[in-house]
Amino acid sequence: MSALLRRLKYTLIADIISGLVKYTPVFDRKDIPPEIINFAGHKSFKEVGDLTVSLMQDHAALKPQDRVLDIGCAIGRIALALHRHFGDDVAYSGFDIVPYGISWAQKHFAKLGADYHFSHADIYNSFYNPRGRILPQDFQFPYEENSFDVSVATSVYTHMQKPDIANYLTQTARVTAKGGHLYATCFGLDAASHALIDAKRSHFSFQYEGDGTRIESQSEPDMAVAIDLDWVFAHLATCGAREVNLLPGYWRGETGLDFQDIIIAKF
Ligand SMILES: C[S@@+](CC[C@H](N)C(=O)[O-])C[C@H]1O[C@@H](n2cnc3c(N)ncnc32)[C@H](O)[C@@H]1O
Repeated sequence: MSALLRRLKYTLIADIISGLVKYTPVFDRKDIPPEIINFAGHKSFKEVGDLTVSLMQDHAALKPQDRVLDIGCAIGRIALALHRHFGDDVAYSGFDIVPYGISWAQKHFAKLGADYHFSHADIYNSFYNPRGRILPQDFQFPYEENSFDVSVATSVYTHMQKPDIANYLTQTARVTAKGGHLYATCFGLDAASHALIDAKRSHFSFQYEGDGTRIESQSEPDMAVAIDLDWVFAHLATCGAREVNLLPGYWRGETGLDFQDIIIAKF
């Protein structure tokens, strides 16, 4: 899809979709969002959601009764998987910057009778919300300290720049309880991934250098961002993370548990 079409998709077309989602039944579905409005990766939507929840159980100590924050929840891929696994036996909050994803999720979960909370934040992103009014580096998560046991951000830092990620990690540390976990996915830069990128074995070229990042497109910098892992780990440590682990993803061109790298931090 061209940059212009994409811009239309997340501005004018998004407004039309929002109205249709909210006020008509055309996009209502029993299980998952219709492909045409699904911007969270419609291929293997259910499978990726289920895999993520199972990895969160194995590596981020996710369990029944947990309070879960879904940062960049889109149109509910993780929420739907959590609901398939736990029903109402988790306390879920998610926020995102694309209004119609939030509207679809709110409507769908209300129909399910599930007590899952979704909110919209009008945060700027050159790819997903080019009209957004709040800069991601300034955004304060609208939750109290120690509100969550597990915070999850899948495929979100892959669309953000370094100062924005710094703020989001700081915010995550503030709202996640002591002993709680962050489960985040990213394209991580370390010696191994640099070598695979340079050898053209990785799934992205990441040919443009940024500040501690590499990006795929100069005209659309938030389309795909790879971030320096030493910096992420050091920043998490300054935010109070007591343990940080990496599970490398197969985007690098080798094997992995999931496509993107997984970062697990314990606070
Ligand atoms: C590839 S989708 C992944 C969505 C979801 N986490 C999932 O795994 O299904 C990327 C998401 O990041 C969201 N996003 C981008 N920048 C954001 C920001 N600053 N704050 C919250 N969400 C953001 C986009 O709106 C989009 O929903």
